[in-house]
Amino acid sequence: MENLDALREELLAAVGGADSLDALEELRVSALGRKGRVTELMKGLGGLDPDERRAAGQALNAVKTAVSDAIEARHAGLADAALDAALAADRVDITLPVRPEAEGRLHPISQTFDEIIAIFGEMGFSVAEGPDIEDDFHNFTALNIPPEHPARQMHDTFYLPEKDDGERMLLRTHTSPVQIRAMQSTEPPLRIIVPGRTYRCDSDMTHTPMFHQVEGLIVDETSHMGHLKGCLIEFCRAYFEVDDVPVRFRPSYFPFTEPSAEVDIGCSRAGGELKIGAGDDWLEILGCGMVHPKVLAACNVDPEKYQGFAFGMGIERIAMLKYGIPDLRTFFDADMRWLRHYGFVPLEVPTLLRGLTP
Ligand code: PHE
Repeated sequence: MENLDALREELLAAVGGADSLDALEELRVSALGRKGRVTELMKGLGGLDPDERRAAGQALNAVKTAVSDAIEARHAGLADAALDAALAADRVDITLPVRPEAEGRLHPISQTFDEIIAIFGEMGFSVAEGPDIEDDFHNFTALNIPPEHPARQMHDTFYLPEKDDGERMLLRTHTSPVQIRAMQSTEPPLRIIVPGRTYRCDSDMTHTPMFHQVEGLIVDETSHMGHLKGCLIEFCRAYFEVDDVPVRFRPSYFPFTEPSAEVDIGCSRAGGELKIGAGDDWLEILGCGMVHPKVLAACNVDPEKYQGFAFGMGIERIAMLKYGIPDLRTFFDADMRWLRHYGFVPLEVPTLLRGLTP
């Protein structure tokens, strides 16, 4: 029988040196496992005579107990250390703010869209969208702007290269083509607003080649000019958050509405500062009118049975007015300093109940 004291010392030293739970388990198997060194020695006891066997058996058992106790103690120590390490690695500083200050800002265009959608949503309008690349029919002809109509010149249209069949697609010059698409695809009654991008080949202090509009359309059997006025006056009050904002309907002309009007709101420019809702000046903010019977007919909606109204407004313009943004072109500069100044905290969703603006 080999020197048990030496074996014990060797195994205990190895246990002390095991530096991970895996290494310790490996050691346990190699010493006490089915083919471990101590186990093999136990098996050898059978060949000894009874007295020797008892003495050797006791001595071996003592080694086995000592080693297994040492392993158990080491296991506890290593497990504690592993837990400590995991806790340290997963440490959460509960004194940090739960939600750090949001870094990004919503562009005023997005905010204005959300506000307008909240207001008209409350009035029962749903949001509709359409393609930025349109055909001539939806952008012009169906809106009662036939090919020779002078309004086509006013639209400064961006045309795409001619297709094989001679058709030229275009970038929509207003959101009104979505009116046409909505009437073609949905039976009245209809109550939609259409936020979106629009394009005109025009670029100066007050025009950018791409800008945004919101279109509104109601088609049913009863809506009349009085409803149009009530709806838009209510919108102006809600949007500018001024209860008695003066609103004026000024006769105007659009090929797709009859009668047509432009809406002005009262303002003051005293001292060079624009103030909405006070004073004796007027600012134009949108175009509107009763849907022209020819437009209804172009969409196979019976003008004898149905009628309705439409309106359209420029988003940059009404955002500039509400938020005092002086220069249109800065909307598209992608300047972080501008965005930090004029932008909006995300997650502050505008609602009429809680207020449109944070
Ligand atoms: N489409 C018109 C424009 O871009 C705005 C408008 C829409 C006017 C609907 C009346 C009715 O100028």
